Amino acid sequence: MNEVTKKLIDKLYNTSSLEEAEYLHLINNRTPEVTEYLRSLAVEVRKKHYGNKVYIRGLIEISNYCKNDCLYCGIRRSNKLVERYRLTEEEIISCAHVGYSLGFRTFVMQGGEDPYYTDERMCGIISEIKRNYPDCAVTLSLGERSRESYERLYSAGADRYLLRHETADSCHYSRLHPSELTLENRIDCLNSLKKIGFQTGCGFMVGSPYQTPENIAKDLKFVETFSPQMCGIGPFIPHKDTPFRDFDAGDAEFTCYLLSIVRLAVPTVLLPATTALGSILEGGRELGILSGANVVMPNLSPEDTRKKYSLYNNKLSTGAESAEKLTLLKEKIAAIGYEVVTDRGDAIKM
Ligand code: 5AD
Repeated sequence: MNEVTKKLIDKLYNTSSLEEAEYLHLINNRTPEVTEYLRSLAVEVRKKHYGNKVYIRGLIEISNYCKNDCLYCGIRRSNKLVERYRLTEEEIISCAHVGYSLGFRTFVMQGGEDPYYTDERMCGIISEIKRNYPDCAVTLSLGERSRESYERLYSAGADRYLLRHETADSCHYSRLHPSELTLENRIDCLNSLKKIGFQTGCGFMVGSPYQTPENIAKDLKFVETFSPQMCGIGPFIPHKDTPFRDFDAGDAEFTCYLLSIVRLAVPTVLLPATTALGSILEGGRELGILSGANVVMPNLSPEDTRKKYSLYNNKLSTGAESAEKLTLLKEKIAAIGYEVVTDRGDAIKM
């Protein structure tokens, strides 16, 4: 391995920090040998903090209505071909009920930005779940809301919030989103969430249209500096009813390479091997775990709504990524030397 590259990786391992230009060097000098070295260190660091535990989160996709029009996303408001749905409070609670008996101790309520879910409605659902399952964590992934709204959701008992920054470069951000959405506001939201006390997750897509190696170096530096409790990194996958239908999907191996780097930059981060990763590569989720990830988020949504929550095409939702097939997932994880646990799986403080 190139001496400079090895030195940089050792610096990242020892200090959990690199300059943006140094991240760029790692991005541009990816070889099988470098990948393997990064992976071995990432696994070592993850083992040190979390052993061989893999945390599971039950994903409840509460609504595919969205007021936004992100160019990459299958549930963007201008896609008239999606059949829209939203789950009732009772349906959401019943997903949590099923999930609890399967062993889930975190429920992630994710949805498009659907104004139906006012603070009042969301707070009702959150407090009901927390009342029924006081030993569970509630994670929200509901996009951009006001600071006051985030405060109310937190007071109602929500523990965590996922809001991917999507790209840390504002020019790139503006090529992926309509002009009403800005990176500045996204970052303000993330800062508010963290300040309020949420365990906060940011994240980005790999191989999204127009993304450059420089953009990814910025993402890595942003993740390092923001130091989130969670970080979602998955490949971009085109959806046929979006303006990005003709772009290529992101690369699974490169996604895993970035997972290893993020594990070293934020050693205690809860890092999912995403459904998108599993969807573009057979065994992708396992490869993610072997690269430093320690979370998987099986789908707990009612079976008939899953295909409607189509952010990208060919999304897996019925195999080991579905909550009902948890036994299969456990076997697959055990086969690579890890253990799926029944645990809230909170971020440990450094
Ligand atoms: N490919 C991959 N990921 C996508 N997301 C949205 N659309 C796509 C796509 N076409 C991701 C975004 C969002 C998360 C919920 O799903 O990063 O934050």
